Amino acid sequence: MSEETHQLRCTECGARIAGTAVNSIFRCPDCNGLYDVIYPWSPLPTSADVASGSNLPNPSALRWLWQERRTSTLPIDQSGVWRFRDLFPIVKNENVVTLREGNTPLYEMPRCAKIAGIDWLLAKHQGMNPTGSFKDTGMTAALSVAAQRGFEWVACASTGNTSAAMAAYAARGGLRSIVFIPEGKIAWGKLSQSMDYGALTIQLKTDFDGCVRVLTDLVTRFPIFLLNSVNPYRLEGQKTPAFEMLEQLEWQVPEHVIVPGGNLANGAALGKGFSEMHHLGLIPRVPRISIIQAEGANPLYRSLQENGGKQLIPVKANTRATAIRIGNPASWRKALRTLNATGGWCEQVTEQEIALAKAEIGAEGVGCEPASAVTFAGLKKLVAQGKITREERVVLVLTGHTLKDSQYTIDYHRNELLTQEEVAGATPLQQAQHTLLRKPPVVLEADSDIVLRTLETHMKISSSVLPA
Ligand code: F0G
Repeated sequence: MSEETHQLRCTECGARIAGTAVNSIFRCPDCNGLYDVIYPWSPLPTSADVASGSNLPNPSALRWLWQERRTSTLPIDQSGVWRFRDLFPIVKNENVVTLREGNTPLYEMPRCAKIAGIDWLLAKHQGMNPTGSFKDTGMTAALSVAAQRGFEWVACASTGNTSAAMAAYAARGGLRSIVFIPEGKIAWGKLSQSMDYGALTIQLKTDFDGCVRVLTDLVTRFPIFLLNSVNPYRLEGQKTPAFEMLEQLEWQVPEHVIVPGGNLANGAALGKGFSEMHHLGLIPRVPRISIIQAEGANPLYRSLQENGGKQLIPVKANTRATAIRIGNPASWRKALRTLNATGGWCEQVTEQEIALAKAEIGAEGVGCEPASAVTFAGLKKLVAQGKITREERVVLVLTGHTLKDSQYTIDYHRNELLTQEEVAGATPLQQAQHTLLRKPPVVLEADSDIVLRTLETHMKISSSVLPA
């Protein structure tokens, strides 16, 4: 791989620069736009046509090579991100920092499909990455660039998962990391990870958006490589689950892919991955990509409703899905382009709907963190609105592992999560579903007769609540 083969292109004014010429905030000095990483074979922003030309990577050769690497013992081949490095030549092989990320399962979700009213539902579980979230796929890419460029320090503002991933990859690569997180507003599992992996962890008395402001100022005053998702190299890694998903589906393109929306980079990254595959002739079309936000952190949804997406309306974010508690998302324009290019939708879901969807994903034996569950809650809405039909094949991208926020799960099952008003807002069917799904722990004397009686009572209750 040669890092010389890529450039950065401003997504607003189209200006191109060398990767090494980028400033510390990863924004175009002329128009403040974000960058995309581009290669000699990249699709032009205005044309989605399938490309032709002798210097394009050959689709059959790529498929064969990616398959071959699965049997290799080399770390970069075992990585489910770097296995696809031909489509993001951004660093030399010897500079890659990897924890063997990617290679995540694509689960069938028949019970959730039935609940949503469709025939075919899969979940691409990005929570099965080394630090338990999809952030690892982007972090291995961007951190490797930092290492190659000789940075000693890396930093991010985070709702918890980016910081966990950054701390781990920085430690692996021998770099030092600084994490800015909003005090008291991230899940404990995530906070513990950044300490475990040795980051300097700074809890700022503000929200995520406030952390971004402080960090953006800091990186202009100290030589730090910024690892928030404004860094376009993050998205190069985060596009690879699209490749892996298609490989797992034997190159059959699903109709619909649904992702949660926070800072709004991930939907755009997957969109870039699908669009590049289409451009190179690996797939005949791209799936729709839809983005789901929590109602309390819904700036993109609101902006689309109120001004058709012309201007972002930042909000003061509040949701228990703390990973996506973001009111002023940096990558909103990139996300909007993905929605428009693929014909996807943006929906919002309530706290009650998120809790129910999370419990339903858990009851399927899969489990995920609250932010990931918005995808399933959103799917139910899109089906109810007739935007997704029964026969369409849908993939949910589950972004975080269920153990990331075990307090949320425990509170839900103990019936201590939702407020009276939130429960009152649920339909009678949703309320019955909550009752059926809740499994609070039972404390008993250590006596088998007592346990047996409890079991019998439990069986009677279950059969009375279960639909015939
Ligand atoms: N799901 C999870 C579990 C997340 O941690 C995030 C973002 C998202 C979804 C949203 O992805 O920002 O690309 O739209 N977490 C970031 C963080 C902000 O700091 O960990 P997005």
